[in-house]
This record gives sequence, structure tokens and C-alpha cells, in this order.
Amino acid sequence: MTASSDLDALEARLSADIEAAQDLAALDALRVGALGKKGEVSLKMRELGKMSPEERQVMGPALNGLKDRLNTLLEARKATLEDAAMNAALASESVDVTRPVKREAQGSLHPVAQVMEELAVIFADMGFAVAEGPDVEDDFHNFTALNFPEDHPARDTHDTFFMKADDGETPKVLRTHTSPVQIRTMLNSKPPIRIIAPGRVYRCDWDQTHTPMFHQVEGLVIDKETHMGHLKGCLMDFVAAFFETDKVEARFRPHHFPFTEPSAEMDVRYERVGDAVKVGSGDQWMEILGCGMVHPNVIKSCGLDPDEYQGFAFGMGVDRLAMLKYGMPDLRPFFEPDTRWLSHYGFSPLLQANLATGLS
Ligand code: DAH
Repeated sequence: MTASSDLDALEARLSADIEAAQDLAALDALRVGALGKKGEVSLKMRELGKMSPEERQVMGPALNGLKDRLNTLLEARKATLEDAAMNAALASESVDVTRPVKREAQGSLHPVAQVMEELAVIFADMGFAVAEGPDVEDDFHNFTALNFPEDHPARDTHDTFFMKADDGETPKVLRTHTSPVQIRTMLNSKPPIRIIAPGRVYRCDWDQTHTPMFHQVEGLVIDKETHMGHLKGCLMDFVAAFFETDKVEARFRPHHFPFTEPSAEMDVRYERVGDAVKVGSGDQWMEILGCGMVHPNVIKSCGLDPDEYQGFAFGMGVDRLAMLKYGMPDLRPFFEPDTRWLSHYGFSPLLQANLATGLS
């Protein structure tokens, strides 16, 4: 056998083995066996040194050619095997995204989160954006700019939590309502303004219907020609959407808030159905929110001209709305980590509130 027919036979065998390799490990073993330090081809290359110059001139290029061709074959087989491995993984790990989602047994949305979502959806549909402010507020935003006079008793009725202040400083407060977000919004943006501001508020109070932290949503509309009619229409539409009824009968009772003039409380006709309420029928009236036309002093403290701009504002308790709509008799468990309560009153995180298919 000549040296070159020897090489042809070696190439034929190695090539066939490479083509037949079934996985990446087998292929790598073949590579090491042929081209590794002690591989068959490498050992032959080492013999070149012992050859005559004539022999070497023939065998050198022949061995290099063989090495190149084997490398090319190894690469190609490797790519094929890798593709096959990827396809197998894809096939075995595939997810059918068209299958209906399983409702996991654990985890649900807190009713407060659900109601806040519903409020955002309803007011977004009327063109309101969502605004936010800090929980630790200063006296200016929480009281002064909202037209609460210095030392006025209204400041006391809020059962305010005061923060510790440095000597001579006015103490900061835990905001007692979401109304300071009205001020922040008017100071930071230009009319026309339409926002709601949902969030936590704090008052020193604790019984069946009061907790020291609870939730409110504030509404504010500022424009050039805004009147009580807009306020009424907006709130009637809101109540209809929130309580999912077409029939809303409302009564706007005169009231007093320092930041609105005139001020009113909105009552709606309702009847009790278990612990929940049905709005639109019955012979009882229930107060659901405070509202009014923004006081000119408030508009002025935000640097706007009250002769040019007016607007309306409203505020309501989110927890209370949740209790009324979903029939919880007691507010306190809202803030206790009781998973039984949550799994009873919680909402599926997979069903997003929307006006087309229903809020709840
Ligand atoms: N801030 C009031 C409160 O905490 C609620 C309120 C009443 C907000 C009337 C308003 C409003 O914006 O116009 O009790």
C-alpha cells in the first residue's frame, strides 16, 4: 500500500465516522481521535520530520489537505447536530400560547387594587389622567394652599399625624387627604387639567369603619368654562359606571369644604342587598363623595388667575366604595394579612377591569 492510498483509506474512514456521529460528545471524541495531540492525523504529521525531502513534499500538503477537509466536515456535522438538538428542545419545551390560562389557586388582587383599577378605567374613558403625590406632605400643600386658614379648627378635624420637625420648622404631616395632589398638579402643569389622584391617606382614627391609613381618590378639572353642570354630569356618569347600572338618582346636598365654593356632598338612592348595595333603586340615600367648584383662593395659590380659570374637584374613599360595591361589612380586615379574607374577596389578576367586558 502506498502512503497516499493509506491516507485515502484513513480519510474515507474518518469521514464516514464523522457523518455517522449521533451527538456532539461522539463528534468531539472523533475530533480528538483524529486531530487531537495524539490523534491519528497528528501522529502522521509528526512523522514528516523523519521523511526524505521528496517524500515530505508530497505528504506535507496531502496531510494538511486532509486536516482541512476533516475540520470542514467536523464543523458541518457539528452545525447539523446543534440544529437537531435545538429543534428537539423546541419541540419538547413548546408552549401552546393559544390555550386558555389556568387560574392559579394562589394570589389575588386586593379589593382596593381592584377598585383603584376600576376608577382609573372609568375616568380614563372620560379623559382624566392619573396623578400622584407624596404620602409625607408639607403643611402648605395639605392645608394652606387648600384654603385652610392658619389655626382653623378644620385642621383639627382631620386628626392629623404630624412628623417630628427640627426646631423652628413647620412639621410635615402624613397627608390627611389626596387633595394636596390638586395643588401639585396645578403648580406643575398648565390648564386644561383633568386628573384623578388615587392614593393612601392617614388620620388618627380606628374603629369598624375607620383605619389610620385608608385610600382616597381625588378628582380635579380646571378649564376656562367649567361649571356645576359639568361636575354633576361627570359624577353621575361615574356612579353609573362604577355601580354598573343605568339608573342613578343623585342629590347634591350643600356642605362645607375650605377648598371648594360652593361645596356639596353627593348622595345616591340605594337599597341594601346583603352587605352590598344596589344603587338606583330603594328608598334610602347614601353619601358617597364630597365635591364642589374649586375655591378662587386655591386657584390663586397655584399661580393661576381665578377670573380666567375655574374648575371642579371631588374626593371619595376608595375602601368605602369597595365595601359598598363588594359587600364587606368591616374595614379592618382590609389591612390585616389574612389570606382567607383575601381569597374570599380578592379578584383574579388575570381579569383586567375594562368598560367593554365589565369592570368586575
Ligand atoms: N379632601 C376631602 C376629605 O378628605 C374630600 C373632598 C371633598 C375632596 C370635596 C374634594 C372635594 O376634592 O371637592 O374629606
